[in-house]
Amino acid sequence: MNNRGDAIQTAVLRLIAEKSQDNLDVLEIPLDVPMARLGLGALEKYELIVALEDKYDISIEESDGSLNSWTASTLAACIKKKLVEKPSKTVNWKDAFESFVFTGKVSALRTPLSIHLDPTFRCNMRCVFCYDSSGSGHGLAEMTLEEIQGIIDECVELDVVDVTFGGGEPFMRSDFLDIVRYAKRKKLRVFLLTNGTLITAEAAKSLAACLDSRFDMVQVSLDGPRAEVHEQQRGVKGSFEQTLAGVENLRSVGIMPVINTVLTRLNFEFIPEMIDFLMDRGLTRYRVLRLHPLGRARDRAYYDSLSLTPEESEDIFRFLSRKREELIGDFHISNDNACIFPMSAKEMRIKIPPLAGREPASDACGAGTTKISIAPDGSVFPCSYMYEFPELRVGSLRERSILDLWNDEGLWELYRKPLTPTGKCKSCEYLYGCKTGCRILSYAFFGDMGAPDPGCHYQPGSDIEETKEGNALCRA
Ligand SMILES: C[S@@+](CC[C@H](N)C(=O)[O-])C[C@H]1O[C@@H](n2cnc3c(N)ncnc32)[C@H](O)[C@@H]1O
Ligand code: SF4
Ligand code: SF4
Repeated sequence: MNNRGDAIQTAVLRLIAEKSQDNLDVLEIPLDVPMARLGLGALEKYELIVALEDKYDISIEESDGSLNSWTASTLAACIKKKLVEKPSKTVNWKDAFESFVFTGKVSALRTPLSIHLDPTFRCNMRCVFCYDSSGSGHGLAEMTLEEIQGIIDECVELDVVDVTFGGGEPFMRSDFLDIVRYAKRKKLRVFLLTNGTLITAEAAKSLAACLDSRFDMVQVSLDGPRAEVHEQQRGVKGSFEQTLAGVENLRSVGIMPVINTVLTRLNFEFIPEMIDFLMDRGLTRYRVLRLHPLGRARDRAYYDSLSLTPEESEDIFRFLSRKREELIGDFHISNDNACIFPMSAKEMRIKIPPLAGREPASDACGAGTTKISIAPDGSVFPCSYMYEFPELRVGSLRERSILDLWNDEGLWELYRKPLTPTGKCKSCEYLYGCKTGCRILSYAFFGDMGAPDPGCHYQPGSDIEETKEGNALCRA
């Protein structure tokens, strides 16, 4: 592989380019020429160390060697070594790379950081909202174990950091554990998304033998603390107990799953009870996901009937924020708020400064800039929320490699170039931070990726009006 495709090296080169007095272009920086000859003075060298320490959350001692004699390759190798020594910090450096994209400094990384791979769309549940409309498998010719292993091999070559396996229900494949074992043998970080119903004691034991609890994650869907609440969303009687049995099997081999709930009008009143339910069972990791108008929930009237009202959204958001702080250390509620609510929630807005008139530095999300998604038949999409839109398919791994597709800039133009905000987003004072929300949800709803996120309830200008009237935005 071309070693310029190495993500860490690319990041180091970009930092050197930023610091160099000679205004070097990233592409011009040789990998094997000492820093001293790259126009880095003492101050720039110091700034480079601080920037690297900040970005990777590691400390680079002068005694590690004189940076003057180091090359970009040796610096990248040092960072990698330190990251291996400090595994708990790996999330930070992944964030650091993503921030290059999200702050507009680059439009895409040289190779993807994350791969989402759905080995099947078959499923034993019939969730009323399933964004993949999973069930019988859509009649797709699923990739074989060997084909998936080939993809994993390429991920390793490309320095991909993590692979998420979802679906459909991944455990519907009899060879799913072989897939996971292979990915772990290749030292990838693995995230599994499952409804838990098929995780037998044996399957749990096999998972425990290959997963590393420091890096890997198993997410199990549970939509409520009572059978009737969970099952009216999952569409299958008896699934509540089956999921709890799967969770128990995981717990008994030492795997603490993340429990995920999709928030709808059917279950939101049970969220406080759900937290107690999980805590009583010693489950300590929880995530709540807002409903996306995709798949079986795409029909507008149906989506509206299942979604929370703006007031209910605000209430539950406030409740979760308060609970997160109250339970800190005992129970973890994920704070990936953008997944839970769009920026439009009032509690989100007060955290980002309104920057009226300022264009977003970049309106990128991870789709096609830091990650790709692979459907069961090898089709590649920028994001797993896009499968139902064949016009957004960028190619197939049955025909081309990941790198070949990734480097074909024309395929990713929609995702690597700024979007044009439309509708109310054009005049919104939060556009800079919000970037119009999730583009695929806007596309599904309005046929326009630059349109406001369908979950946005904010009327641009109303916060300013409120402030003017002396009814200042509550910052408590
Ligand atoms: C598509 S499922 C695949 C994994 C597995 N079958 C499961 O249900 O956990 C991945 C996650 O997406 C959630 N999900 C499905 N449809 C959704 C929708 N329309 N909006 C938000 N989340 C959804 C599921 O509840 C699950 O947590
Ligand atoms: S959300 Fe998961 S469990 Fe439900 S139908 Fe879709 S793939 Fe199956
Ligand atoms: S109007 Fe647009 S930019 Fe403003 S908060 Fe809503 S989605 Fe975001």
